[in-house]
Amino acid sequence: MDEARAGTAAGGARAGEGALTGPPRAAETGWAPSSWRSFPATQLPTWPDPAAVGVVLEQLRTLPPLVFAGEARRLTNALARVQDGRAFLLQAGDCAESFDDFSADSIRDKLKVILQMAVVLTYGSGVPVLKVGRIAGQFAKPRSSPTERVGDLELPVFRGHIVNDDVPVPAARVPDPNRMLTAYHQSASTLNLLRAFTKGGFADLTHVHAWNQQFVASSAEGRRYEAIAEEIDRALRFMRACGVDLTTESPIHQVDLFTSHEALLLDYEEALTRQDSLTGDWYDCSAHLLWIGERTHQLDGAHLEFARGIRNPVAVKLGPAADPAGVVALCESLNPDRQPGRLTLTSRMGADHVRRLLPPLVKAVERTGHPVLWACDPMHGNTFVSESGRKTRHFDDVLGEIRGFFDVHRSCGTWPGGVHIELTGDDVTECLGGIEDILEEQLPLRYTTACDPRLNARQSIDLAFRVAELLRGE
Ligand code: PEP
Ligand code: CO
Repeated sequence: MDEARAGTAAGGARAGEGALTGPPRAAETGWAPSSWRSFPATQLPTWPDPAAVGVVLEQLRTLPPLVFAGEARRLTNALARVQDGRAFLLQAGDCAESFDDFSADSIRDKLKVILQMAVVLTYGSGVPVLKVGRIAGQFAKPRSSPTERVGDLELPVFRGHIVNDDVPVPAARVPDPNRMLTAYHQSASTLNLLRAFTKGGFADLTHVHAWNQQFVASSAEGRRYEAIAEEIDRALRFMRACGVDLTTESPIHQVDLFTSHEALLLDYEEALTRQDSLTGDWYDCSAHLLWIGERTHQLDGAHLEFARGIRNPVAVKLGPAADPAGVVALCESLNPDRQPGRLTLTSRMGADHVRRLLPPLVKAVERTGHPVLWACDPMHGNTFVSESGRKTRHFDDVLGEIRGFFDVHRSCGTWPGGVHIELTGDDVTECLGGIEDILEEQLPLRYTTACDPRLNARQSIDLAFRVAELLRGE
């Protein structure tokens, strides 16, 4: 097999995938995995030793793909069903994965929360929930400033463990290209474990429901959701009564969890981009879905150039400054052939702005007929610095932005396709409020994030129940 190619195993399209259609072939549009290099780029590190970077990238290019082209196509098709209102998207995981906090237990606990949320959201939405993790590759971080002040020191900013270390000393902040290899290998083992967990019985619907029942029973606040949990329980009993064997039916035991991360560090993404031998198309085989962040979606910029040529499904974050014409131009650039499922637009406006800022964008895109999946990131528009100097978010603002997002789509007649959440399975104290009503003075107790504040496990499940209530119009 040509090592630069994803290979037949990578590309094997399945019957009915609709895999061979799509935007023009890369070569016809002057695109190549490296064409981003002649466009202006923001947020990329300045590597101190370019020769060392070259050696690492050469190694990365010879390593196997982490995901396969056929899987990315399957995700595109699943996202197309979300777009049509036939499914709901739950995209969730860490703000930044860490080289220091890497264990089977933390991966399992994160997956457990995502599965629990998905069951509740399935009940709430009445449609299947498509699960996409911010996991197995979410290492690179865009930053608002190239430096940060720690005590008396002015340090280069931490850009995620794929670039430098978060320890606040100058030597740790020097970009080290070998970190890209560590990120690759950590992604590979994370993905391996996720594949085992999701196919090996851990995702069994009856287990997941039992975890949710424990959540409901474990506090007075949780008991508020008893009625929903009881309805899910009744549905499972109904299935058993109809002869569905919950102990052997494979869809009940196995789930699909796709992976995603921000396509920020383009050196790394380019090295993992492989040509599918089946279709001749290029896929970024570092994850199933890649997104372009709020700070890097300039129309004439390197990140857009990279994203337009890969055939994975892509998403773009839209902040308060997004304007209707610019968003339509993004759609034209990233999805000129209007392929369903190809493009997700993830708004992150802030709870106070979403009702005002989102409708003009939705209406402008609707007028063009572009097929997009509208998702809501209720995290990044609601971050503030607490009095103790910690970045945080309030559960009520997170829920408030989701509520605003649903209201906007209800009034525009469009489908609120999903949510994009930063969470962890650990019992951290990083976001305020929620089921345990975490207070400002409790933030220092277990504040361990490598970047932004995440909802802890109980806040995440609480949020899923709240969203289920919203979806059911309660
Ligand atoms: C993120 O998703 O962690 C992030 C930095 O988001 P945004 O680009 O929307 O600020
Ligand atoms: Co973040």
